Amino acid sequence: MGSISLVFDRMRFEEKVLVEKGREKGLSIKLLDAKNFCLNLKSSNEEARTIFGDLVLQRCISYFRGLHITAFLESKGVDVINPLKVAQICGNKVLTTLALVKAGVPTPDTLIAFSPEGVYEAIEKISYPAVLKPIIGSWGRLVALLKDKDTTDAILETRELLNNPIHKIYYIQELVNRPPRDIRTIIVGDRVIASIYRYAPEKDWRTNVARGGKTVSIPLTKEIEDIVLKASKAVGGGILGVDAMESPDGILVHEINNTVEFKGAMAAGATCIPDEILNYIIELVRR
Ligand SMILES: Nc1ncnc2c1ncn2[C@@H]1O[C@H](COP(=O)(O)OP(=O)(O)O)[C@@H](O)[C@H]1O
Ligand SMILES: [Mg+2]
Repeated sequence: MGSISLVFDRMRFEEKVLVEKGREKGLSIKLLDAKNFCLNLKSSNEEARTIFGDLVLQRCISYFRGLHITAFLESKGVDVINPLKVAQICGNKVLTTLALVKAGVPTPDTLIAFSPEGVYEAIEKISYPAVLKPIIGSWGRLVALLKDKDTTDAILETRELLNNPIHKIYYIQELVNRPPRDIRTIIVGDRVIASIYRYAPEKDWRTNVARGGKTVSIPLTKEIEDIVLKASKAVGGGILGVDAMESPDGILVHEINNTVEFKGAMAAGATCIPDEILNYIIELVRR
């Protein structure tokens, strides 16, 4: 069997449990801290394989760090989960929404704009309250509820002053009329291995576990399964966290997480997740 590495920039619960469960399975996963890397772009495929093995589980928290390491590895013939194309799409909400729309996956109405004037035009179309999100980001950070013109003015002024090109691309979405929860599913290959509700904490409208959201395991309905598998396929598949909301018109997928966190899902009872992930990558290196 081929050899497996795990590339990380912070050892979270997820990375620790993957290594531990791997050990229990007799699998030795080489742990590589991306912060210590100095990669020679001219190195041979052989040299890259000596360090990284045959397959890398990419677990960097930093989107840009992970993306560039994955690009290096793939160009040297090392398989990466998830592949570069998948990581690129999932890490960027504009690219994700475009992929979902193209594949016919139900998703909230979303507009993009490139100036405050463009944002006001978008809000005229979808009306208040609307949601403004950074195109690259996670844990609900900077995901803002635009309730009225005053809040919008304040947020846009700050965004413009930040002078960060990423923050000057405005992703404006309808506020979905959902219960105070959303659905997190975890997909490994072509199977949904966990589905949970994430309930928003008392003092926040966002449901992210990182913001205090509480998780409860739920049965996987056929409707959810079909939609999240279609969503996963739309971005290229792999090991993914597909997030969806229950709108009055049915399930809407709003995000696909490429380096999925599953501590909350495990706490809700989905203890099979690390095993499923490991079995999947073992199967891949065996091929
Ligand atoms: N359009 C929306 N309508 C209602 N709630 C939303 C909407 N978009 C996001 N949320 C809430 O905000 C949270 C964070 O948004 P999300 O798009 O998942 O960004 P992040 O990548 O930061 O997690 C979601 O989990 C959900 O609870
Ligand atoms: Mg999210």
